[in-house]
Amino acid sequence: MKNRIEELLSRVGEFVPASMKEIEDFRIEILGKKGVLTQLFEEFKTVSSDVKKELGKDINLLKVATINKINDLKESIESSIESADSVEDITKPALFEEIGTRHPISMVKKEIIDIFTRLGFNIADGPEIEDDWHVFSALNFPEEHPARDMQDTFFIEKNPDILLRTHTSSIQVRVMENNKPPIRVICPGRVFRNEAISYRAHCIFHQVEGLYIDKGVSFADMKQTILYFAQEMFGAKSKIRMRPSYFPFTEPSAEVDVSCNLCGGKGCNVCKYTGWLEIMGCGMVDPNVLISSNIDTEEYTGFAFGMGVERIAMLKYGVNDLRLYFENDLRFLQQFEAII
Ligand code: PHE
Repeated sequence: MKNRIEELLSRVGEFVPASMKEIEDFRIEILGKKGVLTQLFEEFKTVSSDVKKELGKDINLLKVATINKINDLKESIESSIESADSVEDITKPALFEEIGTRHPISMVKKEIIDIFTRLGFNIADGPEIEDDWHVFSALNFPEEHPARDMQDTFFIEKNPDILLRTHTSSIQVRVMENNKPPIRVICPGRVFRNEAISYRAHCIFHQVEGLYIDKGVSFADMKQTILYFAQEMFGAKSKIRMRPSYFPFTEPSAEVDVSCNLCGGKGCNVCKYTGWLEIMGCGMVDPNVLISSNIDTEEYTGFAFGMGVERIAMLKYGVNDLRLYFENDLRFLQQFEAII
């Protein structure tokens, strides 16, 4: 009896039917009222009690294996019939291919780049993994400056000289090291800061910074360049204002506000009823920075500026939570221009 059960088990395992009918025949042969299993159960009643335990297990195993096999076979045949059905009607209209959309950050970054290339700025690139010199020292950060604090910067544990750039000013240093003035570049790129993620801060974001060094470059040139940018980006009626600020690499330094493009400067909840939106930092390049890159400070002066792309995009589109840019939720992303 044991041998018969084993033979049947291997038959179940190897059974490959050619049709639904063969499966049904097989089911009746084994599981049917007059089938093999019924016979086995009849015989089982007559065997001695010491072998009953083992044989009982075997018969049950055979029953379960057969039921599972038949169910699996039926399912796979049914699903192959279904998929055959779906390709059958070739006159059905085709499903539309979904059209992707540009990511709002890419769109705004491109717009910023386009505005500055119209003014004759070139685009410069640099590494995201940097060294202390290019991110801090060459930019006149004193050794103990708080921006070097672990709070802001991601350092590499094994070598504190290697870090993730916290701003793309590091690219400007590389440009100054490798080129002679006149220099007119913008530096778009990803930057990293050890910040808690919230609606207004993220540990990864995008910047576009700019640098212009030549003979006789003045604060007035900077102001006019930034006004041009603001009017191109936020509308021809935009105004700018500058508030004194501090950056180690610029002197004097300023924070730039643009008149609120949503309320036209009257005051709304986006501009917190001030009529102004902060858009970037800027300043005249500190002579110490020029000296670090071997640029003659008697001959040359320059200005620099830097802005966050997410911030500009938030203001342009009225998005109030920065995290939306990183979550890849299609319901959000599909609201922006389609690529055609
Ligand atoms: N590097 C500054 C920042 O990341 C921005 C900046 C650039 C400010 C150039 C002034 C001049 O915040």
